[in-house]
Amino acid sequence: MEAGLEDVIAARTVLSDVDGQAGRLIIRGASLDSLVGVESFESVCARLWAGFSPDLPADLPAALGRARAEVWREVDDLDDRLAALPPVEALRGLMARLADGEDTATALRVVAAPAVFTGAVLRRAQGLAPVHPDPGSGHAADLLRMISGAPPTPAQAAALDAYLVTVIDHGLNASTFAARVAASTRAGLVSAALAGISALKGPLHGGAPGPVIDMLDAIATPEHARAWLEAALDGGDRLMGFGHRVYRVRDPRADALKAAIRRLGADQGRLALGEAVEAAALEILRSRKPDRALETNVEFYTALLLEALSIPPSAFTCIFAAGRVAGWTAHAWEQVATGRLIRPQSIYVGPVPAAA
Ligand code: ACO
Repeated sequence: MEAGLEDVIAARTVLSDVDGQAGRLIIRGASLDSLVGVESFESVCARLWAGFSPDLPADLPAALGRARAEVWREVDDLDDRLAALPPVEALRGLMARLADGEDTATALRVVAAPAVFTGAVLRRAQGLAPVHPDPGSGHAADLLRMISGAPPTPAQAAALDAYLVTVIDHGLNASTFAARVAASTRAGLVSAALAGISALKGPLHGGAPGPVIDMLDAIATPEHARAWLEAALDGGDRLMGFGHRVYRVRDPRADALKAAIRRLGADQGRLALGEAVEAAALEILRSRKPDRALETNVEFYTALLLEALSIPPSAFTCIFAAGRVAGWTAHAWEQVATGRLIRPQSIYVGPVPAAA
């Protein structure tokens, strides 16, 4: 058994499939390309949830809008100590206050929560009043409005919607596995999402895009890219936004997000710098690690997209959670349906007590 369990199959799922050799991601029978920019986050969430709960709402966008308004009451509990934490930890703290359960109403609240709480946490930290959700708005547009205080342009809302769909589910990644383990104990969907967020926030998983921004800031101009990247690798650092446990070719989500940034037209932020840094990084990684296919992963273009939408890097992991939470809830339901507690074995390699 490998230390990272990459050789272990720990679930059977109808939700998504990651083909790391072909660079293909299937979400509930559809290729990622056929969903991003075509279906809304709510629509793909409905796909993931189909068949897992007896009372799924026919109008998911409306039900999710009502759930955003419902979880708003937790914002009253956003005290100064919570607001002073890094946004993803404050989000986790607020989500921990939701009542747990395995029903559809709980699932809706869990999916609504990151969108509502992220804006509230960011605004409180800046001394601004949190913005109440608009239940009639699309989820992505409302999320952006609750952060900035102003309605986004249709292009901005579409770009965030494309992002939320792109990251909505991805096989048995670390956070989804954590969510399934918690769900298998019948702890409930809130607990599953909290387990997911806790695993997501690490820099080797969903915490990478913030450091991608730090890297772009430090490089600043395309001509500095090569020297900076070489020095980082000489110092033993990994290049954030590159490499993946499963993909041996380019992560298909990177191209979906790059296309979403392009659709922002004049507001595409630092895409040109990003492309120059990506090209230099890939060339260097190929020459330094010729036997290890290290390609661009989803986090690289996540950073560029979310920055172009004026979302602060400190909140990037929260926005990732706002998309992935739909996958966590679907996986939690799927795990519960198996009726089986996840409880692997370990091999003890420590000392044994001496015989008496
Ligand atoms: N930069 C430089 N070298 C790298 C990188 C990188 N980004 N990624 C892997 N390597 C090297 C490792 O140092 C290792 O070299 P070695 O064999 O000489 O020790 C080799 O490639 C294989 O590394 P592993 O750790 O086995 O690769 P693994 O598949 O376990 O790692 C991971 C995947 C954690 C994503 C890794 O590529 C990484 O740390 N990337 C940077 C962080 C990042 O971008 N995370 C986001 C991932 S996407 C997501 O989770 C949503």
